[in-house]
Amino acid sequence: MLTNKEIKKINEIKSHYPDEKAALLPLLWIIQEKYGWISEEAMRYAGDLLNIPYEQVLGVATFYTMFNKKPTGKFHLQVCTNVSCMLRGGYELFKYIEDKLKSENSESLFTIEEVECLGSCATAPMMQVNNKEFYENLTKEKVDEILEYFRKSTKKEN
Ligand code: FES
Repeated sequence: MLTNKEIKKINEIKSHYPDEKAALLPLLWIIQEKYGWISEEAMRYAGDLLNIPYEQVLGVATFYTMFNKKPTGKFHLQVCTNVSCMLRGGYELFKYIEDKLKSENSESLFTIEEVECLGSCATAPMMQVNNKEFYENLTKEKVDEILEYFRKSTKKEN
């Protein structure tokens, strides 16, 4: 599941902690970076690597929303609906994007997920894409532009 280089990295991370179990979050992150999500097989693999029971790995992976428990599209949209975003239209935006993706049958390209606060409350409503890019002060028009931009970027690759 992981290459020797990746295992080496995990061993290096383990060396920073008195208990190797502390390397579970970085290990799950490496797996997700590689596969895009954390499967049951991956959880069992992580448990074997760090001598942690599968149930415990499952508990950790399901506690953190940053870990995807099912495959995602090329663009993983995480729309915040926590207090600041909710007050500035986060739920409406989430529903708008969800309906749009369904009507356009774009669910293989985009995966939408509702998430808790991502720490960008002052620029609500916001969404995060692929765990790294923030799009803030969103409106439906801005969302349309962003989705179109991603669609075009995919077409260019092909
Ligand atoms: S409430 Fe949405 S980023 Fe904080």
